[in-house]
Amino acid sequence: MHSWHISRDIEQASIAAAEFLGEKIMACIKQKDICHIALPGGNTPALCLSKLAEKDLPWRKIHWYLGDERCYPIGHEERNDVMLYKNLWSRINGEDDLSDRIHCVPAELGAERGAEAYRKLIDSIAGLDIAFLGMGEDGHTASLFPGNAALDDERSVVPVHDSPKAPDDRVSLSLKTLNDATHRLVLTAGSAKAEIIARIRQGENLPINLIGAINWFVDEAAMAE
Ligand code: 6PG
Repeated sequence: MHSWHISRDIEQASIAAAEFLGEKIMACIKQKDICHIALPGGNTPALCLSKLAEKDLPWRKIHWYLGDERCYPIGHEERNDVMLYKNLWSRINGEDDLSDRIHCVPAELGAERGAEAYRKLIDSIAGLDIAFLGMGEDGHTASLFPGNAALDDERSVVPVHDSPKAPDDRVSLSLKTLNDATHRLVLTAGSAKAEIIARIRQGENLPINLIGAINWFVDEAAMAE
């Protein structure tokens, strides 16, 4: 069952999502003394991530993963890990070196080899505690696009080809991995997402409707239809 947290605008939705993430991370660490969290790509999460970095969290007990990565060379400006470093990891103060807790996807190896390598890592942990995701206007999440063969791949990490959103080749956590996460959070906003949100609320068979109960953080514009 989805739960909807509706805010006035993207800034308030981002702040609310960061608050939710902080609470869930702390609860997880209180219970397990560690937290495994997958992060989104795209443009929407930037403010939420920077607000999260401002919190006083036990950073050395958090392990960061990516929901997906684009098959570009290391350091390419369109890589999701470049966005995540800029908006989150570079802003975490008081910690000298978190590199052993930041698990980037070796998507520079290509979709097949990158997925194989990341799969070994994901299979070595007992599932994600939090999957923080974005959503595209076609109802995709991570790099799981409508009608794409990756949707039927039950391995934990899957290669993606023929992506309708550049680049063609990507690496993504699978539906199964996202479904198995303890908590799922999607932050999305803006009138451009209103039409797909309406379809999701009607239960349409879209990739994001296949990953289980979601805590949605949205603005009023995305809920306008
Ligand atoms: C990617 C993301 C993708 C993204 C959505 C939303 O690599 O593009 O992982 O799943 O989260 O497409 O993107 P925006 O936040 O830019 O709308």
